[in-house]
Amino acid sequence: MSILIQNGTLFLPEGPVKADLRVEGGRIAAIGPGLPVGDAQVLDASGKLVFPGFIDTHTHFEMNKGLPNETADDWFTGSRAALAGGTTTVLDFAEPERGASLASALETWHRRAGGAACCNYGFHMTIKDWDQRIRAELRDMTAAGVTSYKVYMAYDNLRLPDGVIYEVLQAVAEEGGVTGCHCENGDLVTQGIRTQKAAGNLSPAAHPLSRPAAVEAEAVTRYLTIAELAGAPVNIVHLSTARGLEAVRAARARGQKLYVETCPQYLLLDESCYRLPGFEGAKYVFSPPARSLADQAALWGAIRSGDIDTVGTDHCSFDFHGVKELGRADFSQIPNGLPGVEHRPALLYTFGVRAGRMTAEDLVRLLAEQPAKLFGMWPQKGCLAVGSDADLTIFDPDWRWTIRASEQVQNVDYTPYEGLELQGRTHTVLLGGEIAVREGKVLRERRGRYVRRGPAQFWR
Ligand code: URP
Ligand code: ZN
Ligand code: ZN
Repeated sequence: MSILIQNGTLFLPEGPVKADLRVEGGRIAAIGPGLPVGDAQVLDASGKLVFPGFIDTHTHFEMNKGLPNETADDWFTGSRAALAGGTTTVLDFAEPERGASLASALETWHRRAGGAACCNYGFHMTIKDWDQRIRAELRDMTAAGVTSYKVYMAYDNLRLPDGVIYEVLQAVAEEGGVTGCHCENGDLVTQGIRTQKAAGNLSPAAHPLSRPAAVEAEAVTRYLTIAELAGAPVNIVHLSTARGLEAVRAARARGQKLYVETCPQYLLLDESCYRLPGFEGAKYVFSPPARSLADQAALWGAIRSGDIDTVGTDHCSFDFHGVKELGRADFSQIPNGLPGVEHRPALLYTFGVRAGRMTAEDLVRLLAEQPAKLFGMWPQKGCLAVGSDADLTIFDPDWRWTIRASEQVQNVDYTPYEGLELQGRTHTVLLGGEIAVREGKVLRERRGRYVRRGPAQFWR
């Protein structure tokens, strides 16, 4: 069956145009003015914006499986929420058990996502251990469609020494992939937590004090130094500070090839959330933490200047009741993370595009085109062009609504954006050429497909 989307504003790679778009056999079959209807089902997109389906470069579904701090969203609920919000592909972080192979992690993530996912999905691979055996697995990962990795400079159970990071970066670059890094100085975070606890600061308010901006800036600088010496293009995930941006700009001025992700929480939340009464601040315990208003302004400026390449959510949802509460007596025991996969497009549309901080073309660049290129999916994904996959988000720019946890699709008992009033919302989503969401309601479930990705396509 074919579908004809009529009279929408289509966001093509060359810019927005008013035209029709025909979908056939799961692909975009034609784009142009006044396309014939024939036997197609017609979707009237007058007054709506037709975007390539958005890509979330950073999710953690079903993380810490079986543990008291297991994430609230599993593959079904997380991907369903993504789809409802207009995200048609997520890239989630597969994480091997300590000492286990990358293949075992890939198999586990496939088992969890397969048959459950409501949107398309791919996997980044976390490197926790490094030896000749893991090195040799990178080739298998490339063949399996995994071409991006993450290393950690923080978290005692995850972080790698600098020399090992150097080897990982070189090896991944040789495979044509890209390595992202969680840039916080782990030793200084451990020390910061110790200092706060020794001073009797045990509430969520101590969380940002234990990992200040300098801790990120130092790690960004060090990571980029390692990347320079390794001769590897790299990605910095969830960048949160103006000082981190300074390091990014300095490295780019030296000619380094590097990419930067930030997240809605760093653009929209600020450190005042840690001063909320009682234990409320626990809802905002994620790392790096929410920063100052000056950092926030610097990140918006970097979006405008093109210094930020992707905006992912780092969706890592923990229920407030019973799970965030594990850290009631000690902030360092609060599971780190927050939900966001459902609301990212609408938040960025309202507080970015409508607020005049970015254009709708920027939104497409940050949420679709550049994620697809960096993570080896372009032009099948992230692109409205004949032959591309028919993953489309039809967005109503005039829909006024309020974010409420009680009405959200994601399976978590709060949202950090509670009560925010938005103008603009995903109305209809096509996934693989089928109508999967209509008027914001998910109609088709468990139709997500694994995206076998190719090498990174660098554009700068
Ligand atoms: O607080 C966070 N970000 N939790 C998820 C893990 C990570 O560092 O991305
Ligand atoms: Zn991280
Ligand atoms: Zn993350």
